[in-house]
Amino acid sequence: MTLAERRAFLSRHFRRRRMAAVLPLIETAFRRMGRCRIIDLGGRADYWTLFDRAFLEAHKVHITTVNLETPRDIADPILTEIQGDALNLPQFPDLAFDMAHSNSVIEHVGDWENMELFAAQARRLAPAYFVQTPYFWFPIEPHFTAPVFHWLPEGVRAGLLMRRSQGWAPRSADMGEAMRQVRSACLLDKAQMRYLFPDARLAEEKVFGLTKSLMAIRA
Ligand SMILES: C[S@@+](CC[C@H](N)C(=O)[O-])C[C@H]1O[C@@H](n2cnc3c(N)ncnc32)[C@H](O)[C@@H]1O
Repeated sequence: MTLAERRAFLSRHFRRRRMAAVLPLIETAFRRMGRCRIIDLGGRADYWTLFDRAFLEAHKVHITTVNLETPRDIADPILTEIQGDALNLPQFPDLAFDMAHSNSVIEHVGDWENMELFAAQARRLAPAYFVQTPYFWFPIEPHFTAPVFHWLPEGVRAGLLMRRSQGWAPRSADMGEAMRQVRSACLLDKAQMRYLFPDARLAEEKVFGLTKSLMAIRA
């Protein structure tokens, strides 16, 4: 197995484990409403293929993904892809969905003010939400897959990126590219997540006893 295949395998493994926290939210919405309309902020269609299709259909799930990326226009009756900015969704009124969902996105939306906007959307669009993000104090940074890389000062990280590739990130040609890489993911700690999602339970995903990611869940 190549390094890239190993990373993809681990990523799928953790996502599958995470689904255990999402399924009860779908079941609750279905019990209440006879359906579950999900908005997946920063979502991609392929993420939902990890879920058991029969379960999604039995619970009348419909997923709307909102992503800056161009949709791949997958023809699927249970999925609608929208190209858009999850920080600004005026087309959807409050509680337009039964559940807001987001996996590994909030750390990519930009500075703290943008994270606040993102959290506000997740909290207003549905009565239930699930927002997952990698944990700052887990020693391996998931985007660069480099131990303690994210704990180094920005300038040091940029310097290392200009010297050689780091995990998923290729070697940067110059300081501009390196800084864009460094700023492309900004990991959060527990206090920051509690502030952003004050009405949620903060669940922890563990690996070898260490917290790897945080999940803000409002049931
Ligand atoms: C690490 S990927 C996760 C994708 C997907 N949620 C999953 O788990 O497979 C982060 C995604 O967030 C999206 N993203 C970042 N900022 C966004 C924003 N402001 N609005 C919508 N999507 C955004 C990116 O385009 C990217 O697809």
